[in-house]
Amino acid sequence: MDLEQRLDQRLAAIAARAEASLADCLAGRGNSLALAPERLSAAMAHGTLAGGKRFRPFLLVECARLFGHEEEAALPAAAAIEVLHCYSLIHDDLPAMDDDDLRRGRPTVHRAYDEATAILAGDALLTLAFEILADPATDPDPAVRIALSLRLARAAGAGGMVGGQMLDLAAEGRSLSEAEIRRLQAMKTGALITAACAMGAELGRAPAEDVARIVRYGDLIGLAFQLADDLLDVEATAETAGKRTGKDAERGKATLVSIHGAAWARGELDRLVAEAQSLLAPYGAAADTLAAAARFVADRRS
Ligand code: IPE
Ligand code: IPE
Ligand code: MG
Ligand code: MG
Ligand code: MG
Repeated sequence: MDLEQRLDQRLAAIAARAEASLADCLAGRGNSLALAPERLSAAMAHGTLAGGKRFRPFLLVECARLFGHEEEAALPAAAAIEVLHCYSLIHDDLPAMDDDDLRRGRPTVHRAYDEATAILAGDALLTLAFEILADPATDPDPAVRIALSLRLARAAGAGGMVGGQMLDLAAEGRSLSEAEIRRLQAMKTGALITAACAMGAELGRAPAEDVARIVRYGDLIGLAFQLADDLLDVEATAETAGKRTGKDAERGKATLVSIHGAAWARGELDRLVAEAQSLLAPYGAAADTLAAAARFVADRRS
């Protein structure tokens, strides 16, 4: 089996296990969701289950495994970052933000339910992420649970994803410098990708210098991930992407693709992938799937 096939297999296997653990969470097993009103948990499930690459869980599990941590033991933390990501998509699609009707090939949560329910479903998923991280089932060591919570809070909040979303909205219809776009993208998308990698390394009790190296790897693939997303918006159909495309240009969103064009973006993706892969060199074959994942990020079609 070549490396690409091995990566496909790992992506599929982790996605399936993440899906099962998300389904458990959404069913209220091991958390407070059993008390949630039915309509709210149905909207949360709509925005979380089915579809989605589960790429952040993949990164978290694989970075944990790199430091000898069992896949099974990384699943709760993987579910935590994925529910937080799903919240960010539900809110990103709201009429007040990107106003999108299609997500993962299905109606967005505010279309399937209503706007207020979508806002609350997002709020509840964000809160659920930290309920999961605080739970002893996520890791027996409270110091590790605190480190994971801190990592995710910093990545998701005003200095990370939410701040990036603010910059993204403020940038509509304005021209931005390349440095401004890179900062915006590192915040809105990169921060959570990097957090997934760092949380995996922290679960695996990686030494600080390894966590720092994994953070640099995450930063590079985070940039690549959003650059690929911007390329998809220009080049893909809604059918393959599972979401409406052509919308960045329509809303006057500044992206690196809109400034430099698609050919430049592909060259930049190659550069980011090579640099990310070189950071994994010290880990040898143990980091093969993470190295292949960098290429996957750049080449993805959905
Ligand atoms: C989409 O994220 C939003 C961005 C940060 C670009 P993904 O491409 O990971 O979406 P899903 O989870 O696979 O649907
Ligand atoms: C979304 O970026 C990033 C977050 C949800 C934080 P986009 O707005 O480009 O994502 P898509 O294209 O709707 O998935
Ligand atoms: Mg957006
Ligand atoms: Mg959007
Ligand atoms: Mg996009």
